[in-house]
Amino acid sequence: MIIAQISDTHLVLDTPDADQRIRDFVLTVADINALDPSPDVIVHTGDIVHNGRQDEYAKALAILAKARAPVYVLAGNKDDRANLRVAFAGCGYLVRDSDFVQYAVEHYPVRLIALDTLSSRSNKGEFCAERIQGLIDLIDAETTKPIAVLTHHPPFEVTVGPERFHFETAEIISLLRQAFQHSGRVVAVFSGHVHRAAEGHVGSLPATVVPCIATTLRKGEYPAHMKRRPVYYIHRFDPVWGFATEARIVGTG
Ligand SMILES: [Fe+2]
Repeated sequence: MIIAQISDTHLVLDTPDADQRIRDFVLTVADINALDPSPDVIVHTGDIVHNGRQDEYAKALAILAKARAPVYVLAGNKDDRANLRVAFAGCGYLVRDSDFVQYAVEHYPVRLIALDTLSSRSNKGEFCAERIQGLIDLIDAETTKPIAVLTHHPPFEVTVGPERFHFETAEIISLLRQAFQHSGRVVAVFSGHVHRAAEGHVGSLPATVVPCIATTLRKGEYPAHMKRRPVYYIHRFDPVWGFATEARIVGTG
């Protein structure tokens, strides 16, 4: 199974770099479409748009409609749950009777569980008792397959950049770690939000952060020729070895 992960497109329609953010997103989808072999799925780990506006989602949806592989989106702190739900309702995977953008993707060798880590108080991650129970219910709904968990905020210590922890409290990270470990079937955690590449662990689970697609918002050092080339990740799953993650630079053939 091959997963293409993109994140933090921060689509916007009225800033000086709005066109560049759109271009970064469009070129990334085109690059994924040209992959051989094609990914089975594309996941967007949140901050799809920058202001949570309906017109921004309309633009994002039009760009993602060009993707050949099925796309699954998460909510980031810049997203608006209600507008995201309306925009992506036609895709069929968002659970209707929940306040949260939290769901499982079945029908692949690895199950994907998308979590809603949004807080109403801050840009940091939050995860309440209701969401913990929802996560455990999703994990327990199938008992044979490995699981990759997707989160916008990384639930582990990020050792690059000024901020090490991206959740409101250490207790929330600890609760998430316990929930992930409860079945023994979660094999990897894929996140975004930090705008730069990072690796770490959630307990014994390997965890990664993909850089942001919006090159004008990207952090970290890149050589000059990569300044306007978005970076995304390809996660390939092997039943024996687990996931191997490759960084893909858009437009390098
Ligand atoms: Fe974010």
